[in-house]
Amino acid sequence: MNNSESSLSTSYKITEGSVSFSAPSNIALIKYWGKEKIQIPKNASLSFTLNNCNTETSVSFSKKDKKNNDFSFQFIFEGKPKPSFEPKIKIFLERIEPYCSFLKDFHFQIESINTFPHSSGIASSASAMSALARCFVEIEKELGTPIDVQNTNKKASFLARLGSGSACRSVEGPITVWGKSPEIKGSSDEYAVKFSEKIDPIFNNYQDTVLLIDKGEKQVSSTVGHNLMHNHPFAENRFKQANNNLAALKKAISAGNMEEFISIVESEALSLHAMMMTSSPYFILIKPDTLKVINAIWEYRKTTKVPVCFTLDAGANVHVLYPKQHSSEVLTLINEQLAQYCQDSQYICDHIGTGVKKL
Ligand code: DP6
Repeated sequence: MNNSESSLSTSYKITEGSVSFSAPSNIALIKYWGKEKIQIPKNASLSFTLNNCNTETSVSFSKKDKKNNDFSFQFIFEGKPKPSFEPKIKIFLERIEPYCSFLKDFHFQIESINTFPHSSGIASSASAMSALARCFVEIEKELGTPIDVQNTNKKASFLARLGSGSACRSVEGPITVWGKSPEIKGSSDEYAVKFSEKIDPIFNNYQDTVLLIDKGEKQVSSTVGHNLMHNHPFAENRFKQANNNLAALKKAISAGNMEEFISIVESEALSLHAMMMTSSPYFILIKPDTLKVINAIWEYRKTTKVPVCFTLDAGANVHVLYPKQHSSEVLTLINEQLAQYCQDSQYICDHIGTGVKKL
């Protein structure tokens, strides 16, 4: 996508309006960890789009009396102005302006809520940035630029990536891939695409129960972590490993090969945290209770043969992944053995979903 594809209209069909979208979080199975330039990933990543952990965003827009060279917006989070978030939005607007030429002609009132508890340690940047990006694409359409359905999603994903890399994978579902890979038709470093290979029915309605091991703020942000992959002693092999894992995971998803699926997913999670532990400076985001949960899952899987596995994002929480048909026994495992390791015994039940929705 380049400037010529962005809206160049200066006379608009309407001068005010409002749009609202809900966007889900996603959980990466092949991890994005390391980037260059503006949000270009060092390897391809693949994720399950989630369904219940959402950001709902409304953007009201009104034409400014006089065009000036500044962005004009206010951000309201869960009913209250949140100026602390405004610098992040300003950077986002600066990055997307070359592709959304109307931005400085309007004032925007941006209102968001999250459908998951704030202090849960769950990153909300993916759902927040994809909801906001999708709103701006809708505004561009309402102002008079014709964009068809396919290009709507592509552009929303492209813009979302500029806000937060992983956000580009939340626009569509149930499985998306971001990053150029010979394995995935149409894949790009600039936006995510839907995984269009065969998906074995075992993954229909696949469950992700997020165990909230540590609800606090992360000590090291993802952005800092990504940057530590520059000059990381294992970086090049890690990027190769991720791309090879993507090729193998693609086959496992199509064939419903659970043994292979589990071994790739868990290896990716541990490799991600291994990168953190071997960065300079090094850091550890998992907690002792994260390891207790992982060991309990391994023991349970060994004795019952239930194909349940875990993945981790950049934090201590554990995502427990399992087929829908095993929900009742895995929930028993969680309640009887794993919830004791969760802060306030809390966990969030989610499952694979379809991406952004108009509200
Ligand atoms: C470990 O997308 O949060 O969750 O692009 O700097 O906003 P920025 O980073 P972010 O990184 C996500 C890292 C991850 C893995 C993943 O989601 O692929």
